[in-house]
Amino acid sequence: MRKDVRILLVGEPKVGKTSLIMSLVGEEFPEEVPLRAEEITIPADVTPERVPTHIVDYSVKFFSLSPSHFFQANVICIVYAVNNKKSIEKVTGDVHIGFLCVYVGMHRVPLILVGNKSDLVEHSSMETILPIMNQYSEIETCVECSAKNLKNISELFYYAQKAVLHPTGPLYCPEEKE
Ligand code: GTP
Ligand code: MG
Repeated sequence: MRKDVRILLVGEPKVGKTSLIMSLVGEEFPEEVPLRAEEITIPADVTPERVPTHIVDYSVKFFSLSPSHFFQANVICIVYAVNNKKSIEKVTGDVHIGFLCVYVGMHRVPLILVGNKSDLVEHSSMETILPIMNQYSEIETCVECSAKNLKNISELFYYAQKAVLHPTGPLYCPEEKE
């Protein structure tokens, strides 16, 4: 049995990483957020899987995020904004997954794609995201949510916990697929 779960959120600036964390913790949408949320620990008895869960925020403005943050993470949520095409493109590009894959390959960390700001669009981003899901076997699942209307927020963190505690299959880097 694992003693805890460490979730890291990464993604382009302004996609809503900090807001997602604050919405989860405060159970309401914060109108103003700092660049980066302090690391928070959710006690075991209020998590669905009964395991203490640490949530770590990241902002590119904080270069102090070191590789050790990645090494320590048990699951990485790559956040994009469903209304921001560029943030979706960055997910597909080398910038995030390619970079993370180095670390993922070394110690097999599941990834979760998180489409935030679903309150701002009518359509789903799934069509764009599906090919990426198929390309990278490290991606455990994807979820669309909204920090603003609290849609799928607790689900997102539950999926992250579950990806660590009950992984669905072997994880490997695409290079090794042959
Ligand atoms: P950096 O720390 O700069 O990387 O940004 P971030 O990813 O932490 O984003 P942040 O939480 O600071 O949110 C950026 C802006 O998006 C803020 O103005 C938020 O109020 C807004 N925002 C965040 N989540 C949502 C959402 O679900 N819906 C809407 N409509 N706006 C959101
Ligand atoms: Mg932030």
